[in-house]
Amino acid sequence: MDLKLQNKVIIVTGGAKGIGEGIVQVLASEGAIPVIVGRNAEDNQKVVYALAAQGKEAFQVAAELTQPEASEKAVNAVLEKYGRIDGLVNNAGVNDGVGLENGTYEGFIASLHKNVVHYYLMAHYALPALKASKGSIVNISSKTADTGQGGTSAYAASNGGRNALTREWAVELLKYGIRVNSVIVAECWTPLYEKWIETLPNPKEKLASITANIPLENRMTTAEEIANMTVFLLSEKSSHTTGQLIYVDGGYVHLDRALANS
Ligand SMILES: NC(=O)c1ccc[n+]([C@@H]2O[C@H](COP(=O)([O-])OP(=O)(O)OC[C@H]3O[C@@H](n4cnc5c(N)ncnc54)[C@H](O)[C@@H]3O)[C@@H](O)[C@H]2O)c1
Repeated sequence: MDLKLQNKVIIVTGGAKGIGEGIVQVLASEGAIPVIVGRNAEDNQKVVYALAAQGKEAFQVAAELTQPEASEKAVNAVLEKYGRIDGLVNNAGVNDGVGLENGTYEGFIASLHKNVVHYYLMAHYALPALKASKGSIVNISSKTADTGQGGTSAYAASNGGRNALTREWAVELLKYGIRVNSVIVAECWTPLYEKWIETLPNPKEKLASITANIPLENRMTTAEEIANMTVFLLSEKSSHTTGQLIYVDGGYVHLDRALANS
């Protein structure tokens, strides 16, 4: 299938590592021009140089997205370089464990800035360019909005927000032909995931008990599998798909858990 993404300029927030990097790699393999917007210029550059070594174009903008002014600056930097934006993947975020019992007002608000405020700001500032290109938006989100996790109120609220914004923007942007979808992640092995599991008392046992409950093949989802769906949703091949929350999770959220051990 030709996704017709050649030379399309697609912003991927948090594109230097984990799921974001997976999306950048698949975009580059389709001939698109991924633009990493991420906090660490060195990490961003590493990916850009590695792609350049394979003859693939990519670009990066260093931006700490918890700072509200960073999104506008990042969008402007992309427009200055390419003069267009064909797609936006909101992906940067962190499961930071601000709980109900042990959290604080400051921690809760800071987590919203880490996880959902920049999703809004990136889309807001990229919108004029997306209108011009009839681009597409994909919001990466987490199962915690559906299932809860315990001890992570702000992250769960942010993911509920990401999903609600997906529906809300899909409606508001119908008139421009801009499609908006979410890819929901459950258990995907990334630097963030590794850091999170290491905070638990018995990380190895915990990981084994998690994968045992993933119905399809009892394994983690790969970043490439998340990326393949994301890139399809960015492409015109998904031209009548909008406002959808798509679970790329081996059946983790919706299938009967009893299946996992059968
Ligand atoms: N890994 C999982 O199993 C999982 C599950 C559900 C949802 N998700 C979601 O996927 C997204 C990516 O997660 P990941 O596991 O790939 O994370 P990761 O930490 O492995 O990679 C995230 C990248 O984004 C960058 N980043 C994070 N916050 C940033 C900020 N405020 N400003 C600029 N750059 C920032 C980081 O520096 C890093 O390069 C997150 O939004 C997370 O909610 C992941």
